[in-house]
Amino acid sequence: MAEKNKKAWGGRFREPLAKTAEEFSSSIAYDSRLFKQDIVGSIAYARALIKAQVLSAAEAKKIIKALEEIMRGMASGRIALKSEFEDVHMNIETLLIAKIGETGKKLHAGRSRNDQVVTDVRMYVKYEVTEIVMLIKKLQTVLVDLADKHIKVIMPGYTHLQRAQPVLLSHHLMAYYEMFSRDKEKFLAAGREADVLVLGSGALAGAGFDIDREALAKELGFSRVSRNSLDAVSDRDFIVSFAAAASLLMTHISRLSEELVIWSTYEFNFVEISDRYTTGSSIMPQKKNPDVAELCRGKAGRVFGDLMRILTILKGLPLAYNRDLQEDKEALFDVIDTVKSVLSIYGEMLAATKFNAEVMTAAARKGYLTATDLAYYLVRRGVPFREAHAIVGQIVAYCEESNMQLEYLSLTQLKQFSPVFTYDVTRVLSAESSIANRDIPGGTAASRVKEAIKRARKDLASDKA
Ligand code: ARG
Repeated sequence: MAEKNKKAWGGRFREPLAKTAEEFSSSIAYDSRLFKQDIVGSIAYARALIKAQVLSAAEAKKIIKALEEIMRGMASGRIALKSEFEDVHMNIETLLIAKIGETGKKLHAGRSRNDQVVTDVRMYVKYEVTEIVMLIKKLQTVLVDLADKHIKVIMPGYTHLQRAQPVLLSHHLMAYYEMFSRDKEKFLAAGREADVLVLGSGALAGAGFDIDREALAKELGFSRVSRNSLDAVSDRDFIVSFAAAASLLMTHISRLSEELVIWSTYEFNFVEISDRYTTGSSIMPQKKNPDVAELCRGKAGRVFGDLMRILTILKGLPLAYNRDLQEDKEALFDVIDTVKSVLSIYGEMLAATKFNAEVMTAAARKGYLTATDLAYYLVRRGVPFREAHAIVGQIVAYCEESNMQLEYLSLTQLKQFSPVFTYDVTRVLSAESSIANRDIPGGTAASRVKEAIKRARKDLASDKA
C-alpha cells in the first residue's frame, strides 16, 4: 500500500493533511521554546522505559545520547525546527529517528503528546516562577532602599485623591513592598500547583506500560504525581493561577505607575522621572512624557487579556485532551514575557526617579491634614468623637473662609469653637506630630516604618520569599 500520509500518526489516513491545515495547526513557532524541557522529559522517560522493559539499557543509552546531541544542536542554533512537524514534540522525535533510526521509534511507547506537552509546560512554569520571584525581590529591594533614603520625607496621604492625613513617603513606598510580597506568595503557590508529574498518564487513560512514576517524578524534580490521568492531561488550572498571580502583580504595577504619572505632572510635581525613562514629543518641544510608566500601566491590560484567554479556552472543554489546549501556550508565554520585561525595567526607573521632598512636605502642610488630630485632641479631653468631628469641621470652614491653615490658629480663635482647647493644642497641629502619633503596628510613625524596613530587609535576605 502506498504511503499517502507521511505524518508520524499518518497510518490510517488515505490523504495527506492539507497544507493550509498543516500551517493552521502548527504550534512550532511558539512551542519551540519548550525544547529543553521536552528533551529532559524524554531522557527521563527513556530511563523509565528500561524499568518497564520496553527498552534495553543499550537502546535507552543510544536514545539519551542522541537527545543530548539534539539539545546541544538546538541550544546553539545549529538545528532548526520545521513547521511541517507540527510541534516541538514531533520535531524532536523526528530528529531523533533521523539520527538513530529504529531505536528512536521506540521512545513514544506508553506516552502521548497529551501527557508530554503538559509535563513540559509544568517544568517551564516552575522555572519561570523562580525567575519572576527573583525579579520581584529586586524591585522590592529598590523600594526598600528608597524608603530608607527618604525616611524623613513627609507627604500628604490621600483618600479619594483628596489630601487626607500626613504620612511618610517611606510608608507610601512600603505599601507597594507589601503588595509585591503578596504577589510573590501567589507566584510561589502557582509554582507549587505546577509541581505535579503528569507523564505516565498516557493519552488519557494512563500509560499502558509499567512506568515507575514516582521515580520519574524524582528525576524530573516534581514533588507529586498526578492522581487521575483524565484530569492530568486536561488540567491547565496551574496556568490560570500563574496568570492570575501575574494579573494581580500587574495591577499593583499599574497603580504605582498611575501614581508616578500623576506625581510627575506639573500640577503635582512630587517626582521627576529621569530623562532616561521618559520621552519627548514630536511636536511640543517642552514635553517630557512618562512613557515607560504608562506602558507598564497599559501592559496590565495585556496580561488580564491573557488570563481571560486561558479561562475562556478551558471553560467549554469536555474531558480529556482537546486541541484547544494548544492555545494556552501563547497566552502563557505572553504573560511571562510581559511580566519579566516590566519587572526588569521598573526597578531601574524607580531608582532613577527624583522625589521632590520639599514639594511633598509643603503639600502635606496645606489642606487641613491634621484636622483629625485636632478632633482626637478633643476626644482625649472627653469630647465624644462625633461632637469633636463637628467642632473641627466648623474650624476648617472658618479657616477656609479666612484663608488660613490650622497650624496658624491662635488659642483664642480655637477657644471660640470649644472651651476644651488649651495652650498644648499647638502640639497636635503639625504634620510631624500627626505622623509621630501613628505609633502603632502598621502605622506611619517613623519608628514603625523603620521597623517595617528592617523586617523587609531581613525577608529579602532570607531564602524564603
Ligand atoms: N501541540 C499540542 C499542544 O500544544 C501537543 C499535543 C497534541 N496532541 C494531540 N493529540 N494532537 O497541545
